[in-house]
Amino acid sequence: MSAILSVRDLEKTFGSVVAARDISLDVPAQQTVGIIGANGAGKTTFVNMITGHLSPSKGSILFEGNDITGLPSRTITRLGISRSFQVAQVFPSLTVTENMWAAAAIARGRDSIIARALTPLDTPEAKTEADAAMELFQITRYRDARAVTLPQGVRKLLDIAMAVAGSPRVLLLDEPTSGISIEEKFGLMDVVMSALKTRRITVLFVEHDMEIVGRFADRVLAFYDGTVIADERPETVLANPRVQTFISGTKPAGEGAVHA
Ligand SMILES: Nc1ncnc2c1ncn2[C@@H]1O[C@H](COP(=O)(O)OP(=O)(O)OP(=O)(O)O)[C@@H](O)[C@H]1O
Ligand SMILES: [Mg+2]
Repeated sequence: MSAILSVRDLEKTFGSVVAARDISLDVPAQQTVGIIGANGAGKTTFVNMITGHLSPSKGSILFEGNDITGLPSRTITRLGISRSFQVAQVFPSLTVTENMWAAAAIARGRDSIIARALTPLDTPEAKTEADAAMELFQITRYRDARAVTLPQGVRKLLDIAMAVAGSPRVLLLDEPTSGISIEEKFGLMDVVMSALKTRRITVLFVEHDMEIVGRFADRVLAFYDGTVIADERPETVLANPRVQTFISGTKPAGEGAVHA
C-alpha cells in the first residue's frame, strides 16, 4: 500500500536544543497511529512540522506524493492535513453551531480578507456540513449552547469536529484526551475514532494514557529524546523494555523505572 504521508530524516533544532531528529516513516492511508513519549520527547514538535506550524531544520515531508516541507500551515490545511491542539481552539462566545459554521467557512477559505468578511457563515453548504459533523460527533443536543459553557469532553469533541470540517485526509490530534477524567476518556475516544473511521481519515494522535493507545492505535510511535525508539504494533511497543523504562514507567522498581 502506498503511503499517504512519508517523512524522511526529519530534524528540528531550537538553538542548541535538538527537539526532533532522524525521524523517517511512512503512514499508509487510513491507519491510526498513536504517538507516545515523556514530556519534552518531541511529539508536538513532530506534529507541528507536519502541519506547517514549524519549519523543519532538515529532512522532508511528502503528502500524497507531494513535497510539503516547510509550506505554511494554511496551505497544508487546504491540501488536506488538519489538526487539533493540546488545548481546544474553539470560539468561546459562539454557539456550537456557529463554531461549526466558522470552521467550515475557514476551511473553505477565501484568500482575500474582504472576500472572507463579505461571505456569510451560514450558507446552505456550511449548514448541511455542520449538521452532519455535529451528528457524527454526537454533539447535536448542544448545538445552541455557547462553547464556553460546554463540559470539557464536549468542547474536545467540538474542537475535533471543527478540525474535520474541511474534509481532511490526514488528521493530527495532540493529546485529544488531556484534561478529561479517566472515566470519560474511553467514551470520548470511541466517539472520535468511530467518526474518523466513518470519514476514512488517516489519524496520528499524541496520547499519554497507554490503555487508550493500546485500545485505539493500529501502530505506535514511541518518542524519546527527539527520536522514534520503537515503531510497531501497540502490544509490541508497549512490551518493549526501553519504552517501559523511558516512557510508560511500567518496568518494576529496581529495573531502572523512570516515570514519565
Ligand atoms: N519553540 C521552542 N523553542 C525552544 N525549544 C522548544 C520549542 N518548542 C519545543 N522546544 C523544546 O523541544 C523539546 C521537545 O518539545 P515538545 O513540545 O515537542 O515535546 P512533547 O513531547 O510534545 O512534550 P509534552 O508531552 O510535554 O507535550 C523540549 O525540550 C522543548 O523544551
Ligand atoms: Mg506536546
